[in-house]
Amino acid sequence: MALQDVLIDELRDMYSAENQLVKALPKLAKGAKDATLKTLFKDHLEETKGQVLRLREVFEHLGKKPTGQHCNGMEGVIEEGAEALEKDEEGASFDAGLVGAALRTEHYEIAGYTACISMAETLGLDGVVELLQANLEEEEAAAEKITAAAEPILEAAKEEPEDEDDSPKTGKEKYSDKKSKEDERKAAADVKKKKR
Ligand SMILES: [Fe+2]
Repeated sequence: MALQDVLIDELRDMYSAENQLVKALPKLAKGAKDATLKTLFKDHLEETKGQVLRLREVFEHLGKKPTGQHCNGMEGVIEEGAEALEKDEEGASFDAGLVGAALRTEHYEIAGYTACISMAETLGLDGVVELLQANLEEEEAAAEKITAAAEPILEAAKEEPEDEDDSPKTGKEKYSDKKSKEDERKAAADVKKKKR
């Protein structure tokens, strides 16, 4: 498989990721209790629609269609965000969970665009690099704005009472708890071998 084929696969992944975010960001915006955070999610939704259009331009440059690959990674990251939206936390603690989820989506995209840009640069695809760079810069700026908006939210969440009982309650939480123990058990022997 040539580098251009790898790049096209990765770009299709990004295209799917951005389209998934067009559907997920309104839910985060609706769920956010903090006004600044709400506005940031709404603004980034508009940017994300523009990023989808920019990716279409990238595919026009390459003479390929943008569909063909579903991004499982973003689906998982969005699923984590959906879990944060289901939490029955108070105002600031609830928003703190959304901040974590939103930053995960941004950094997933930053990683994706960084990889695609390196490949496009290697292939000398200047027009593609320029378009991808514009998307990357928006993701980086969004992550920075979310991090800044999070500061007062985290301060407020610090003052909220701790949940006494953190045992899993719903079926989903119980399943997640069981899987996390499995993760630990499977890695345990290898972790033990690590010299300290
Ligand atoms: Fe994006």
